[in-house]
Amino acid sequence: MLDDKDRIFTNLYGQQDWGVDAAIKRGDWDDTKGLMARGQDGIIDAIKASGLRGRGGAGFPTGMKWSFMPKESKNGKPSFLVINADESEPGSCKDREILRHDPHKLIEGALVAGFAMRARAAYIYIRGEYIREAETLFAAVAQAYARGFIGKNACGSGYDFDVFVHRGAGAYICGEETAMLESIEGKKGQPRLKPPFPAGVGLYGCPTTVNNVESIAVAPTILRRGPEWFAGIGRDKNQGTKLFQISGHVNRPCVVEDAMGVSFRELIETHAGGIRGGWDNLLAVIPGGSSVPLVPAAQIIDAPMDFDGLRDVGSGLGTAAIIVMDKSTDIVRAISRISYFYKHESCGQCTPCREGTGWMWRVMERLREGNAEIGEIDMLEEVTRQIEGHTICALGDAAAWPIQGLIKHFRPEIERRIIEKNGAAPYAVAAE
Ligand SMILES: Cc1cc2nc3c(=O)[nH]c(=O)nc-3n(C[C@H](O)[C@H](O)[C@H](O)COP(=O)(O)O)c2cc1C
Ligand code: SF4
Repeated sequence: MLDDKDRIFTNLYGQQDWGVDAAIKRGDWDDTKGLMARGQDGIIDAIKASGLRGRGGAGFPTGMKWSFMPKESKNGKPSFLVINADESEPGSCKDREILRHDPHKLIEGALVAGFAMRARAAYIYIRGEYIREAETLFAAVAQAYARGFIGKNACGSGYDFDVFVHRGAGAYICGEETAMLESIEGKKGQPRLKPPFPAGVGLYGCPTTVNNVESIAVAPTILRRGPEWFAGIGRDKNQGTKLFQISGHVNRPCVVEDAMGVSFRELIETHAGGIRGGWDNLLAVIPGGSSVPLVPAAQIIDAPMDFDGLRDVGSGLGTAAIIVMDKSTDIVRAISRISYFYKHESCGQCTPCREGTGWMWRVMERLREGNAEIGEIDMLEEVTRQIEGHTICALGDAAAWPIQGLIKHFRPEIERRIIEKNGAAPYAVAAE
């Protein structure tokens, strides 16, 4: 378990004030000028050495991502940092705690990260539903300007850096980095084809890096305490502390900061009061937000909760939004509901996603009722494979994976429903 002294987010539960004076007492904005004096490359090297991997889902190494930004401006174009506070993945609710209880960690992170990438400004894109959080964030940014922490000669460093807060209108797809850039530009939030990648052609055609709120908010503490400290927590290639969001059938749902690689059992026992009805009542877990495949109870209990540990059980860490399901769950219905979400959120640009998400949901609904033929299970699996990897953005994959996980682990349950509904000889169809 993570020692209290190693926690980065010391006001995660809002027991103290979010404002600038309380933030300074907690250690934020402490000699930020000194952090910047390490130089752009010095900061990027430190983040690389810390082993920090992006906390927005894909786990791309953060320092490496920053190093893709140009060191010299081409044609006088500025560079930008875009901070992804869209947080629309079902199950995810960690960035919200940072935004409303520790916003100065994020704003200070924006400055040091933006400076390291030679960015002129940061845009924080916050989901439309986060109304109170946006109010807090706007107020925190105003405080940071008033103290001279950002703006002209930020923190007395001689570097000019602006922070803009941009509110979304509630579309999940705007969390995808290039759709977010379109949305900030005032266009319809639809992902762009890559390449070109944002580091080359991003916001307003300028070099841009998009990072998750948590990835940016941890950066100042990593620089202050040293990359070795962060890298010393967790396992190789899975380092640092992480905000886990535990929801569903546990006794005490919560958001908590713990070490990467903590076992599922320890995480749930220590912070969430155990599984509702005890460990024998656990059915399955979606460990990384709705986009990742579920893992049955027996395989997740001792799994290390990090990128590699969850990959080894056929799933992923994603945003570390852990959705716990006990044996009272109608697992087919749960996955069907997730399918409906992706159908609803598809932006409609590519045919496999636009048509496939609706098709998969309709089949899932029939499977839920048992109103199908056994052979349709394989047909559905086949269709998920045709969508996966064949679309502009990863929403197509995100729609396919939960269904693949269901079929892989709960095929007998799907078949049982069909047999019960149809009576005898359900395998006749499968043999066709
Ligand atoms: C459909 C879709 C939705 C996404 N939503 C979010 C989101 O809400 N927040 C987020 O940080 N990343 C989201 N991402 C990932 C971003 O595209 C991007 O990879 C991430 O913000 C990079 O930050 P990181 O490197 O710090 O992890 C989403 C991706 C897809 C395909
Ligand atoms: S995969 Fe879906 S959400 Fe992504 S660009 Fe294509 S249609 Fe839009």
